[in-house]
Amino acid sequence: MLGYRIEANVMRTTRIEKVDDENEVVKTLHFRDHLCANAEPGQFVMVWLPGVDEIPMSISSAYQSRMASITVGRVGEATRMLHKKTKGDFIGIRGPFGNSFRPIEGRVLVVGGGTGIAPLAFLLERLVASAQTVKCFLGAKNRQELLFLSRIRSLFAGRAETEIETSTEDGSFGHKGVVTELVEATLATQTFDMIYACGRESMLLEIFHLAQKYEIPLQVSLERIMRCAIGLCGSCNIGKYRVCADGPIFTHKQLAEVKVEFGFQKRDFDGRRISS
Ligand SMILES: Cc1cc2nc3c(=O)[nH]c(=O)nc-3n(C[C@H](O)[C@H](O)[C@H](O)COP(=O)(O)OP(=O)(O)OC[C@H]3O[C@@H](n4cnc5c(N)ncnc54)[C@H](O)[C@@H]3O)c2cc1C
Ligand code: FES
Repeated sequence: MLGYRIEANVMRTTRIEKVDDENEVVKTLHFRDHLCANAEPGQFVMVWLPGVDEIPMSISSAYQSRMASITVGRVGEATRMLHKKTKGDFIGIRGPFGNSFRPIEGRVLVVGGGTGIAPLAFLLERLVASAQTVKCFLGAKNRQELLFLSRIRSLFAGRAETEIETSTEDGSFGHKGVVTELVEATLATQTFDMIYACGRESMLLEIFHLAQKYEIPLQVSLERIMRCAIGLCGSCNIGKYRVCADGPIFTHKQLAEVKVEFGFQKRDFDGRRISS
């Protein structure tokens, strides 16, 4: 059975309805698309910029009947072009693709770093409705790069069983250091029924080891080079899995099966294995 709906793989042209400047290097683009508006947290779209590239982006919100957004960190040519887009401009999209985070009912810990916070902010909207308690740790280089802090604070406002903590590498906001230090200190005294994480793979690897040590189930979102996004080309392989079709969300058990590559290797644009 296909892991995506056939019509999702048809390229659509969509108009940008709104652009939010999250900080100097991150923007959120809102667009109208009924398939993306029905996406689940963790799913992604392929964004086409004619003459430049087609790149994967997580869906950072899906709302009203037809609106959705992506949150784009500026790193290279395609993301630089996306940052130049303004209200009324058009982009091409295919998707949504991939599996999604599975919300649960118990005590959950959500850990995000950098632009990895984007799909988690969307997930948190579901978790506040399903989970018994929600603890959220956000990490970034500095306060300015702490993504969606006010969005998550408003989501948590008035809900007793929610908590948010932050870490910045320069100490400008919250704990001075990296977010995994908060995770390590917390897991030493508290237990959870699930950890959800998205961010740099080195961070995900540390969380994987902590989850293993404290025997807590884990769901993480992985990134790899993506081209077809439907499991055909093999550019996103990790071990026996294709991140676009089997993921991008992987469980602790699946990550253990690909531990030679997870956190250590990825493929370059020519399919060669390189260190990650
Ligand atoms: C499932 C998934 C979800 C993602 N979600 C987000 C998100 O929500 N926000 C965000 O800012 N970024 C996200 N990314 C990363 C984003 O796709 C890359 O930053 C982007 O492709 C870089 O393109 P560029 O031309 O600007 O930079 P380039 O100079 O081409 O590349 C910079 C780096 O980005 C990575 N990259 C480039 N092209 C691809 C590609 N086709 N597929 C995967 N990685 C690539 C490579 O590691 C490369 O070294 C996601 C990636 C994946 C796989
Ligand atoms: S991107 Fe082609 S198989 Fe995953």
